[in-house]
Amino acid sequence: MKKSLRIGLIGYGFMGRAHSNAYAKVNHFFPLEHQVVLKSVCARDEAKVKAFADNWGYESFETDWRKLIAREDIDVIDIATPNNTHAEMALAAAKAGKMILCEKPLSMNGPEGRKMVAAVEKAGVANMVWYNYRRVPAVTLAKQLIDEGRLGRIFHYRAKFLQDWTINPELPQGGAGLWRLDVKAAGSGVTGDLLAHCIDTAVWLNGGVSRVSAMTETFVKERQHNLSGKVEKVGIDDACAFLARFQNGSLATFESTRYARGHKALYTFEINGENASISWDLHDLHRLQYFDHRDQGTTRGWRSIHVSDGDHPYMKNWWVPGLQIGYEHSFVHQVADFIQGIETGKPARPTFRDALETQMICDAVLKSGKTHKWEKIGKFK
Ligand SMILES: NC(=O)c1ccc[n+]([C@@H]2O[C@H](COP(=O)([O-])OP(=O)(O)OC[C@H]3O[C@@H](n4cnc5c(N)ncnc54)[C@H](O)[C@@H]3O)[C@@H](O)[C@H]2O)c1
Repeated sequence: MKKSLRIGLIGYGFMGRAHSNAYAKVNHFFPLEHQVVLKSVCARDEAKVKAFADNWGYESFETDWRKLIAREDIDVIDIATPNNTHAEMALAAAKAGKMILCEKPLSMNGPEGRKMVAAVEKAGVANMVWYNYRRVPAVTLAKQLIDEGRLGRIFHYRAKFLQDWTINPELPQGGAGLWRLDVKAAGSGVTGDLLAHCIDTAVWLNGGVSRVSAMTETFVKERQHNLSGKVEKVGIDDACAFLARFQNGSLATFESTRYARGHKALYTFEINGENASISWDLHDLHRLQYFDHRDQGTTRGWRSIHVSDGDHPYMKNWWVPGLQIGYEHSFVHQVADFIQGIETGKPARPTFRDALETQMICDAVLKSGKTHKWEKIGKFK
């Protein structure tokens, strides 16, 4: 008989669906001692949350997240709501002794994130942040190759995350669907939304960052606000590019924008080492590009590894070799790893503390965008 792991999800938007799909699939594909139970989902609109609960098989629903957290029949609180709600919900969930899965970015800023880390560590509850790209098999394979030392000394890290959905100046800010443009709900623009992903992957693959130098821009300075109905100043960064020095001596460039016409979610990274290079592209997420200078000269070149074989990360749990998987599977893997972490006592990462490091780097990037100076990364340990 499996033990139950009873989920209480807050938020039924994009991520609420991605997480629910992961909970629904994980026990079918990963051998675990726990059975995930979709206990309850919470959002403010009763009719909509009821329809969501029916559609995804949640046993019940709530319209007040505090009631959800107070329930004794919930083990895990999953926070899939806008960034300005993460801290309050996580602090309450930690106080109630719940395990917590929180969407990224961890918090609105470093100081808020620090309080969240202190709360989960004091409560001794399992915690994790949904930086899901670590668990795309091709990205996990990149980590394996780097840890095996195949690249040798690393010289360069290059990451981009490009979109084009906010170019229209008539697009309003704030409220459902558009909270990402409202600094009060999002904390920042592309830095916390997109570069946070790039930073999490980079720190995981290439170690800590020591200093950053950034430029940020807000191309559309005012937009109508959906909640107030008034034209208000836009407080988010529409675009951000920064240079970084890693503690291992490598140099890095990061760029993100929502104004790169033609690009929807172009997350790419490339790493250049002494012996080998790696590159990855979210639009072709099941492939890892690899170049090894030690290959025999006449056939040396970039190989495109189709990450779909049984000896590739996570792949033996899915279909037969050669059949690829997609975006949604990264969330299934993250749930599987979280549960395995509970079962083995070796917590899955990134924990809140790991995500605080990314938050501190985001803070330094935003600060540098204002000061026009190199900024050091604040304390996160
Ligand atoms: N890991 C990833 O790749 C990834 C991708 C997208 C979003 N995110 C993160 O996930 C979070 C949610 O983003 P999204 O795209 O799902 O947003 P969304 O707008 O699609 O959904 C947000 C949900 O939160 C609900 N909500 C808002 N305030 C609430 C409250 N007070 N009580 C209960 N419910 C409330 C809304 O009703 C909605 O269901 C954000 O922190 C975002 O940064 C992460």
